[in-house]
Amino acid sequence: METIDRELAAWLVRAGLVEDGAAMVAEPLTGGVASDIWRVEAGGRRFAVKRALAKLRVARDWRAPVSRNGNEVEWLLEAGRVVPDAVPRILAHDAAVGAFAMDYLQPEDHPVWKAELRAGRADPAFAAAVGRAIAAIHSATAGSDAIRARFDTDEIFHSIRLEPYLEATAEAHPDLAPQLMAISRDTLARKIALVHGDVSPKNILVGPKGPVFLDAECAWYGDPAFDLAFCLNQLLLKCLWVPANRAAYLASFDALASAYLDAVDWEPRADVEARVARILPGLFLGRVDGKSPAEYITTDEDRNRVRRVARSLIATPPAALATIRDAWEEELSK
Ligand SMILES: Nc1ncnc2c1ncn2[C@@H]1O[C@H](COP(=O)(O)OP(=O)(O)OP(=O)(O)O)[C@@H](O)[C@H]1O
Ligand SMILES: [Mg+2]
Repeated sequence: METIDRELAAWLVRAGLVEDGAAMVAEPLTGGVASDIWRVEAGGRRFAVKRALAKLRVARDWRAPVSRNGNEVEWLLEAGRVVPDAVPRILAHDAAVGAFAMDYLQPEDHPVWKAELRAGRADPAFAAAVGRAIAAIHSATAGSDAIRARFDTDEIFHSIRLEPYLEATAEAHPDLAPQLMAISRDTLARKIALVHGDVSPKNILVGPKGPVFLDAECAWYGDPAFDLAFCLNQLLLKCLWVPANRAAYLASFDALASAYLDAVDWEPRADVEARVARILPGLFLGRVDGKSPAEYITTDEDRNRVRRVARSLIATPPAALATIRDAWEEELSK
């Protein structure tokens, strides 16, 4: 991770976040694949700065990393209008620099949900709050032509979500390719609400006022079912990560699903649930046989457990999420 360069430092001054000539300390936060993130301290102020990495820039792709960063800012601003406590506040952004500054949320009182889950602190009430917040954003943005026009990101959503998780999995399972390709196609074609695209415990902080969502680089106007399926998938997979916490992970699955579905008011709840139940087994299998396998699924025994459950659910999609959860619990009880 590079340190903050001159261009970024000059922008922070222009944006009024750092006084010209003031001492500035920038600590890299993580080695993310897509972005650099720093905690910056200057003049008694502390904030976070995120910038899309230039190496992802592909000559052929009109969506430069700069625009991914812009999509993230747009999502954070839009979500902030609906659930202000559930996103970091944007302090400044600049499309040309390809960076934005936001509130820095201290890890002491904002641990990452993934770490909490790992440590056995899987609180269904928190999962329910995640479901309510995501549903509130979907509900507030459903059917908006203006928001839809701002998030015209089909191409990038396809290439970083649908292709690696569903379409690559279709190649590994040719007999299920028609179903998996149809899920990908149908998802891309639906234009219903503003989707975060990466609702994963690693991108959610457990704040004093509830969940805080980060990392909206995959923001897209499309099928809200994707967000719920993506997060539920993580809770299913976590049962392989820390088997002793299985009951709490599955209770969180139930709480997330029902809190979300209870808040669906833009279309029939059963329609959303059926689409989530169709996408979820594809994403589940995708974390074993797609392009981005879960790092904690390391044995063939575990891979085959996911394959057995996912393949049968892809072949015969259930209407209810409880069917998926029960099939997984039954497999894990064997
Ligand atoms: N505003 C913030 N305040 C405090 N910590 C933050 C903030 N933004 C990001 N972080 C920390 O940095 C980590 C990575 O952030 P983020 O997910 O936005 O980056 P990323 O590069 O897109 O990540 P990755 O590609 O690894 O998913 C978060 O998990 C969190 O620990
Ligand atoms: Mg992230």
